[in-house]
Amino acid sequence: METNKVIEQEKKYIMQTYSRPKFVIDHGDGCYLFDKKGKKYIDLVGGLATCLLGHGNKEFAQAVKGQIEKITNPTNLYYTEEQVKLAEKLAKLSGLNKCFFSNSGAEGVEAAIKLARKHTKKTQIISTKESFHGRTFGSLAATGKEKIRNPFKPLLSGFVHVKYGDVNAIKRKISKKTAGIIVEPIQGEAGIIMPNKDYLKGIREICDRRNILMIVDEVQTGCGRTGKFFAYEHDRIKPDLVTLAKGLANGIPIGATIAKGNVAKSFAKGDHGSTFGGNPVACLAANFTIEYLIKNKLMQNAEIQGSYLMKKLSSINSDNIREIRGKGLMIGMEMRKYSEKMQEKCLENGLLVNLTAEKVLRFLPPLTISRGVINDALEILNEVIENEN
Ligand SMILES: Cc1ncc(COP(=O)(O)O)c(C=O)c1O
Repeated sequence: METNKVIEQEKKYIMQTYSRPKFVIDHGDGCYLFDKKGKKYIDLVGGLATCLLGHGNKEFAQAVKGQIEKITNPTNLYYTEEQVKLAEKLAKLSGLNKCFFSNSGAEGVEAAIKLARKHTKKTQIISTKESFHGRTFGSLAATGKEKIRNPFKPLLSGFVHVKYGDVNAIKRKISKKTAGIIVEPIQGEAGIIMPNKDYLKGIREICDRRNILMIVDEVQTGCGRTGKFFAYEHDRIKPDLVTLAKGLANGIPIGATIAKGNVAKSFAKGDHGSTFGGNPVACLAANFTIEYLIKNKLMQNAEIQGSYLMKKLSSINSDNIREIRGKGLMIGMEMRKYSEKMQEKCLENGLLVNLTAEKVLRFLPPLTISRGVINDALEILNEVIENEN
């Protein structure tokens, strides 16, 4: 199909919930994407943090193909080996004990909310303002962004939202109904908002003191993006529940909810389930992704290239830039004004960047990115910023 035809048919047959630039992605190679007309783009969006190993990774494709040829989804009615192997890996990496597998971040959060309620026999979940935890009704109730919540009220009850980064604000909301707290180690969709150094530690302490569950949503920060497999490892704490998705299977849909053993026990047979969750294709993809990350030192690469990108972005001299912040390869450049035009200009010049919270250009490239690709991206970005001034 020609590019224009795809765009026309999309409008006709797809619900119009996304704003898309007018080109059609054809394929990818490493940190590059190519459209149907053959134009090449440097990809700093990385499938919104899902593509860890680079686009079109041949070894990954080969491994997944092998599994598809064996079996795709015998369902959770039966044991499969890849699921068990993945659960063991995640338990070891997280220091927690047991997993539930689903297909997306929102579903990972849903499972965490259900489990927290069932385990504590309490209903209230404390979340944070401007947070993003997904768009299903449970995860939407946890989400703090009013713009996303408002059209769908009334939402699931029992959720309160407090200022992000403020431990005392959490303390003030704890009541005898509180089951747990859900928090992102870095708020991604809100514009790469970094809490102060002791925030997670402070939450851990309150949770211990008040006997409530600490749920850390690592859907965006997890799988090595910040330089460690879980972002909470930087803070040397252990949550009670963790959610993962996005990069876990390098772009193949998967969600995971990982819990401490005593908490996990509260899910009894029939309490939760998923037809596709934990299917062997997604689990093999995740096992391969984790092994590849470790073997190729991609978490170290995230740290090294992330620091380099941050340093270079910070050295750009422009009044339009308000702040550069982030960790590893999860970086935001907050501009002083709405920056859709800048994003468009980057795209015209062959650079894909994401815009979140209206003013924040967000960089979530594959963890395989090299200094050379970063330099090429910076050249385009510098030119676009210069012309903006
Ligand atoms: C922290 C966080 N939690 C949950 C989600 C929802 O994930 P999904 O879109 O896979 O449902 C996202 C998605 O951006 C996220 O960033």
